[in-house]
Amino acid sequence: MMKKDFKRYTVTAALPYANGPLHIGHVAGAYLPADTYVRYLRLKGEDVAFVCGSDEHGVAITIGAKKEGVSPKAFVDKYHELMKKAFADFGISFDIYSRTSNKIHYDTAQDFFRKIDAQHLFLEETSDQYFDEQEGIFLADRYIAGTCPNCGHTNAYGDQCEKCGTSLSPKQLINPRSTVSGNTPVLKPTKHWYFPLDKFEGWLKDWLIEGHKSDWKTNVYGQCKSWIDQGLQPRSITRDLEWGIPVPREDGKGKVLYVWFDAPIGYISATKELKGADWEKYWKSDDTRLIHFIGKDNIVFHCIIFPSMLKAEGTFILPDNVPANEFLNLEGEKLSTSRNHAVWLHEYLVDFPGRRDELRYVLNSISPETKDADFTWKDYQQKVNSELVAILGNFVNRVMVLTWKYFEGKVPASHELPNTSDKRKRILDLYNLAHIDLNKSVAEMVKALEDFRFRDAQFHMMNLARVGNKFLADTEPWKLAKEDMEAVGCILNYALTVVGNISIACQPFLPDTARNIHAQLNMDASEVSKKFWKSQTLVEPVGAGHQLNPAALLFRNVEDTEIEVQVEKLRKVKAAKMEVSTTVIENPVKPLKEIVTIDDFGKLDIRVGTITAATKMEKSDKLLKLTVDSGLDTRTILSGIAKHYTPEEVIGKQVTFIANLAPRKMMGTESQGMILMAEDSDGKLRLLQPNEVVRPGSTVS
Ligand code: MF3
Ligand code: ZN
Repeated sequence: MMKKDFKRYTVTAALPYANGPLHIGHVAGAYLPADTYVRYLRLKGEDVAFVCGSDEHGVAITIGAKKEGVSPKAFVDKYHELMKKAFADFGISFDIYSRTSNKIHYDTAQDFFRKIDAQHLFLEETSDQYFDEQEGIFLADRYIAGTCPNCGHTNAYGDQCEKCGTSLSPKQLINPRSTVSGNTPVLKPTKHWYFPLDKFEGWLKDWLIEGHKSDWKTNVYGQCKSWIDQGLQPRSITRDLEWGIPVPREDGKGKVLYVWFDAPIGYISATKELKGADWEKYWKSDDTRLIHFIGKDNIVFHCIIFPSMLKAEGTFILPDNVPANEFLNLEGEKLSTSRNHAVWLHEYLVDFPGRRDELRYVLNSISPETKDADFTWKDYQQKVNSELVAILGNFVNRVMVLTWKYFEGKVPASHELPNTSDKRKRILDLYNLAHIDLNKSVAEMVKALEDFRFRDAQFHMMNLARVGNKFLADTEPWKLAKEDMEAVGCILNYALTVVGNISIACQPFLPDTARNIHAQLNMDASEVSKKFWKSQTLVEPVGAGHQLNPAALLFRNVEDTEIEVQVEKLRKVKAAKMEVSTTVIENPVKPLKEIVTIDDFGKLDIRVGTITAATKMEKSDKLLKLTVDSGLDTRTILSGIAKHYTPEEVIGKQVTFIANLAPRKMMGTESQGMILMAEDSDGKLRLLQPNEVVRPGSTVS
């Protein structure tokens, strides 16, 4: 595809759910790369709208609120403020950090829905959905869990299996259960609106599979392609929930928009809030470049579903790139909010005051751009000490200190060094070599920034300091000081040029450090910075005779003790968890369920039957397919006992079963009842049998 000439940029970073504090996984996944990129764009003088905000709807919120015993509104208010502050304190430079509970967003999302609805694009369908009778709610998304039909993970959710990443719908779950009450749900009809994603398949093949084959990251493109190749289906975009944006239709009362329908529209709402009447330029103008920064779990929503929504609406531009990152792990384990296995951003900022650039640097240098990455505190210490301190900090400090020592802090003259001695010849050669290397590094850095390869970009930026250090080590100005002050002046003049260029080049990555060096150099960076980012070559930041400020260290070593405190913190969380699980073992009996009446019990038709045949279900390690003589009929019942009994063992056995349970399909086979079982806290299952053989069909009461 031809590279377009863009006049402005709309850059978005995934709206995080307002359901917990931010950790380094969030930062490394979306916000730091987005911030680095946006800083780069602004330095180039581009017109950018950098938008983000809290995602405040959906089951992630209502479940969290319920856990904390507060209303969803109170819950999101608390986390929105916490997250907004953490982002600001860390220096993520959003132009706006909004939230999806704002009025402007309700209006925008409802208008969006109406616009598509007016074209009669949505499908309307009444179908049976799982319902939790005790709680009186329909179970969608994270309200329902069960066994993943793809990988067998027993804790897959109604929208996705977090183990294998497959996106699911509640009806695909095996042995579904309500995550609210733990109960087995029933089916109940309800009406919903569906977005006809299938109708966009042809268009997606052109726009995405053909159109973005070469400019999107392979991890992003690959996931999209395999999704589209599997065939697309209509997706329901409404929910039976109380918390959310009401469906703007007369016959949509009591229903809300699905969170993944409203949240991405939040980018648009936030832009409206930021730009006022001017907002449309950032979303409807072909010369605007739209870029979404996200983590890999958000890829299909941003690359397939939201673009199709935008296309359906008809007046918006589409994302030009979606540079999604893979996941960050912590000390070899998955980061987890619920298990508290995380480095929390707000805690880092307290434990490491004034040291934001250290975290930016480390996260950027291990950025999970192409594969999952691992953050360890040992590595953090190592990267800070041997790179920031030993390479960057050391170079800048040596140059500053030497300039004060020999020239009282005044930039020495750089007059052409007459080529009068072998030593001088050598210095000139070294200077020429360094100059070539440095310009090459600058070019490589800019190229990497353009390509969203931020860890490479940062590496090339650091190369400026590496080359600078080598230039000093090779020219040894401290030795020349006795014989040729003119040569020393030339060397330091050039070294200061390098320091100045580093202070400009490091701005997208290490903004605090950049300001710190500017202050030491006593320089106003804005003009030379513009020149640098325009020309993408070295500039002359400080001229001869310019007075510097005193030298100060940029970084200090991370001590072993500091790291130990952090590792210990993680270890304690783990130990506390272990204790909890031991207590569970000491008290292995599940708590009592809610009291029921004899009438409740009477609704169940429990009987004894005889198993006449049994086979293993294909592709399942849990299910046995049983043929049961129920006295009433011969029926098929699927039972999750394959790990506890072989088919041979159960044939001929009598069992108790629920005879009037609504039939359910599991892995393509209908189960006509449920076998009763005793289960202990270790999950061991035993069949419940009458203590003497009885006639099949005998009732249990
Ligand atoms: N809240 C979602 C998550 O944390 C991301 C939403 S991105 C948006 O995974 F586009 F929908 F806003
Ligand atoms: Zn799975």
